[in-house]
Amino acid sequence: MIFAIESSCDEVSASLVGHDFSVQKNILYSSADIASRTGGVVPEQAARKAEEHIAEVISVTLERYNPHDITALAVTHGPGLIGSLFTGIETAKTLAYLWNKPLIPVYHIFGHMCANMLERDEGVFPRLVLTVSGGHNDIMLWESPLQWKKIGNKIDDAAGECFDKCARMLGLAYPGGPNLSRLAQTATHQYYFPLPKPMMHDASFDMSFSGLKTAVLYTIRDEGGIENFSQEKKADLAWGIEQTITDVLLGKLEKAAKQLGINEIEITGGVSANRVLREKAEILAIKKKWNFRIPAKLVYCTDNAAMIGAAGNILWKYSEDKIFDFKNVAVKIIE
Ligand code: KG4
Ligand code: ZN
Repeated sequence: MIFAIESSCDEVSASLVGHDFSVQKNILYSSADIASRTGGVVPEQAARKAEEHIAEVISVTLERYNPHDITALAVTHGPGLIGSLFTGIETAKTLAYLWNKPLIPVYHIFGHMCANMLERDEGVFPRLVLTVSGGHNDIMLWESPLQWKKIGNKIDDAAGECFDKCARMLGLAYPGGPNLSRLAQTATHQYYFPLPKPMMHDASFDMSFSGLKTAVLYTIRDEGGIENFSQEKKADLAWGIEQTITDVLLGKLEKAAKQLGINEIEITGGVSANRVLREKAEILAIKKKWNFRIPAKLVYCTDNAAMIGAAGNILWKYSEDKIFDFKNVAVKIIE
């Protein structure tokens, strides 16, 4: 098994993942409740909470297991919040030293890309993966297990960040994505406020969401502020925002799939937990005859250590030399 630790943002998680991608344990502590009181993640607060809870998360994960069951450790080394990352990385290095085991550093986004493997298989290469989260929003062309390239970038805000910021303008608590989605479900008119779909029709696979965020700001301002919005009107606006974001994401993914002639398609990352995105993607996949995967369990969409365990398995299996010395592992913030 791979023993994995993830602590890149406001959560700290540990997991045991078999070489067949079976998740034996996946334990997670999140400080999102604190972030919901402060209106967003405060990096120092998140780091302190990770530090406070990591020992408990690890001991619960390792209950009934011991180091003999573990082939190697894996840890997220970035990108993310530096204080939170330090906690996970230094703990993993200490355990690797004590247990005399290899330590595999995992790029957080590669971890998200591997989340669909937790359905118990590696999947088919080449494939396209839309990784869409609070901090990242990419289309990856994944050619073989250790080879991928970013063919679609975020120009400014990621979709999750746009969800969170729009939710805040609507007076909703953090994390905004799921809260906005819940509000949108109550919309009665399902009316599209005239919101832009930035870069939707340009030639690239890049995405931009800051213009949408600004349009929401102006819409609210032009109607006299959020206090002038009835609950119904807020829900209608939330519905429009959710439809717009998901249309852009799937529009770009569809364009990439068509141009590259690939029908092995995956979506991962926090926003892949979004109900509307999931429903629309399933319909599109049938229409386009995609072989489509999205994590079945929502816990594998958002940050978690199991996906880092899946990525650790891939790096372990396919790297030729298998030299993963804990002394070489350090925080890597820059992508
Ligand atoms: O992958 P993740 O846990 O952390 C990052 O790596 O960023 O993603 C968190 C993001 C947040 O922006 C959150 O609002 C968004 O994913 N998210 C959602 C939903 N669940 C999480 N956005 C829309 N609808 C959801 N149901
Ligand atoms: Zn993430």
